[in-house]
Formats: sequence, structure tokens, C-alpha cells
Amino acid sequence: MEVIIRPDARSAVKLTARIIADDLKKKPDMVFGLATGRTMEAVYAELARLHKECGVDFSLAKSFNLDEYIGLAPENKNSYRYYMNYHLFNNVNIDLRNTHLPDGIAEDLDAEGPRYEQVIADAGGIDLQLLGIGCDGHIGFNEPLSSLASRTRQKALTPETYEQNSPLFDNPQDMPKRAFTMGVGTILDAKRIVMLVTGPEKAEILAKAVEGPVTSMISASALQLHPRVVIIADEDAAVKLEGKNYYRWIFQNEPEWEPYRSM
Ligand code: F6R
Repeated sequence: MEVIIRPDARSAVKLTARIIADDLKKKPDMVFGLATGRTMEAVYAELARLHKECGVDFSLAKSFNLDEYIGLAPENKNSYRYYMNYHLFNNVNIDLRNTHLPDGIAEDLDAEGPRYEQVIADAGGIDLQLLGIGCDGHIGFNEPLSSLASRTRQKALTPETYEQNSPLFDNPQDMPKRAFTMGVGTILDAKRIVMLVTGPEKAEILAKAVEGPVTSMISASALQLHPRVVIIADEDAAVKLEGKNYYRWIFQNEPEWEPYRSM
């Protein structure tokens, strides 16, 4: 795991988008794992800008989102399909047929998880998984106690997640209490993982996930088990990390990060 600390959210977002765009240039038929949420909105805006102004080409890319609310149709403004179309897919040249989310209104809810896993496997697996972190440590909607070996399935959301996300609904009580989510095991199968964390409200959980023990109580701590993870945090989110100086030293000295240091 590597942790990169940027001075503010804007530069953390720019770095995240640049890493995604550079990986896409190297492998135009990339399979992305994508996240939603407030943190990602700026990343998708930056990717749309890179597409328009710098010609970053999504035409051969495929994508799989982490999660979707159960009971919300794609047309629902609060569904993650709607979010993805609005924030990213409609603003870049990705083929919508190559974009996938769990089906929140699947007829057979028990079959939807295995179906989604199969479509990911048929695409050759996820090359780059983009993640945010919830205030309770979730990645995707893998709430505390999610098995570290879990696969895509239905999950009941915690009161913390309800509190975090229900203000995004016109009527907060309309927020579903269940969602489909890729499992922690599904996420760990990705070849590379990039997690973006910004804002002081994430500082405590980020420190626990990065520097605390691996525990199913904090799903993001499972990222410590993955061989290729980079966590990009702004100063506000990084404030409780004990190893800050070492993480900064790595970013300043590792040749891999040389092209990104002047951003
Ligand atoms: C949503 C997802 C979640 C969010 C997390 C942070 O697809 O994967 O794990 O990344 O809840 O959300 P924000 O960015 O709104 O704080």
C-alpha cells in the first residue's frame, strides 16, 4: 500500500484522474471498477475535461460499478446508474453498452450477485478499481462485519450510511435500506486499486483503515492485503496518519511518482 498526501482536495482529485487517464492510455480496453458518492463527482468532472481537452479516449473501455440501491430503477435520479450517466458516461466517449451496474430492480435478487460476478469474470476481471471510503469504513457498501471474502450480494446499510447518504435524496426517507454491492473479495481481485479520500470527516476512519489492524469491522482495512493499492488523501483526511512523513518521502523519491510530483 502507498499513501500519497496532496495539499488539498483539488490536487488529490487531479492526481487520481491523471492516474486513471494514464492507465487508460497504456491499455485502451481497460476494465474499470467505479465508485459513486460525493468524492467521485470531481474525479468524473476532471476525467470529462481530460477527454474533451486532451483527447483521453474511453471508446474501448468497460466499467463495472461497485454498487446500486435495491429498488431504484435506472431512471430514478438517486440510482447510481443515473449518477454515472450524469457525472461520467454522458460526458466521455464510453460505449454505454460496456458500462455495468448491479440491477437494482432485478427480478431475482438472489441471482443478481452471481450474475454480476460472472459478467465481471467474462470481461477478464477489473484492471483498475476506484474507491472512496464511507465514514464507517465501508468500501462499496461493504458495511462493518462484511466478510473479507465476500462477493457481490445484497447488503443491509448501516444507520451511519443512511445518515451519510439520505440527504442526497429529495425526500431522505426514500433512501433504500438495502443495496447490491461487490464484495470485499471482489474488490481485492482487481489488479490495481486507487482510493481517494478527502475532507476532515474521513481522517479518523482513514487512519484506522491504513494503520490499524485488518478487521471486518472496517472493510477498507482489507486493502492492506492487496499488493497494488494507492491511497490518495488530501491534508485534511491525512491529519491522523502517524506515518505521514514516510508516505511523503516515498512520493518524493520513488521513480514511479516522478511524472506526478509537479502536478
Ligand atoms: C459508492 C461507494 C461508497 C462511497 C463512500 C464515500 O459507490 O462505493 O463506498 O465511496 O460511501 O462516499 P462519499 O464520497 O459521498 O463520502
